[in-house]
Amino acid sequence: MDYQNISVLISQEELDNRIDELAQQISHDYQGETLKLICILKGSIFFCCELAKRITVPVMFDFMQVSSYGKSTESSGHLIIKKELDEPIKGDHVLIIEDIVDSGNTLSKLLPMLKEREPKSLKVCTLLDKPERRTAPVEVDYNGFCIPDEFVVGFGLDYSQNYRNLPYVGVLHFD
Ligand code: IMP
Ligand code: MG
Repeated sequence: MDYQNISVLISQEELDNRIDELAQQISHDYQGETLKLICILKGSIFFCCELAKRITVPVMFDFMQVSSYGKSTESSGHLIIKKELDEPIKGDHVLIIEDIVDSGNTLSKLLPMLKEREPKSLKVCTLLDKPERRTAPVEVDYNGFCIPDEFVVGFGLDYSQNYRNLPYVGVLHFD
């Protein structure tokens, strides 16, 4: 799949290698525990699956869909819960799987909300981090790649629901 308006930022091979490393670290940190992965739909689906396949401790999944974005590329500042978790997380070791931390708005609202549900632990794993864009402070426990302030698509990430199935992460050029 080649799009003229997209340039590769992180190749399939780089994604593969880094996800291997993250999974090794997570497996080590949660040794002897069962881990509940909360996949934040829809952008995290590819990352969550690839990571989970490589984690060697027992894993459970739940899914949540939140949105602070409309069809534009700027955060609206509001957090809308479009899909709730199926199960309580009380007493669970919870790892939130995100595609990208940008302004930090989503996680800075989501984390306190989930903390109130009394998980045994609550951590964040994101594939991508755009630290330059941060306006709300968020503590990220596992980060795949720090990227520059560019709008990226692929490997789950979208622009108006398009480009999610690109096997790499690419910069979308708007002109
Ligand atoms: P935050 O709330 O600003 O941290 O943004 C989190 C959400 O914004 C992510 O889960 C993405 O869905 C979306 N997002 C932020 N930056 C990008 C990007 O460069 N490409 C695609 N989606 C993005
Ligand atoms: Mg999105």
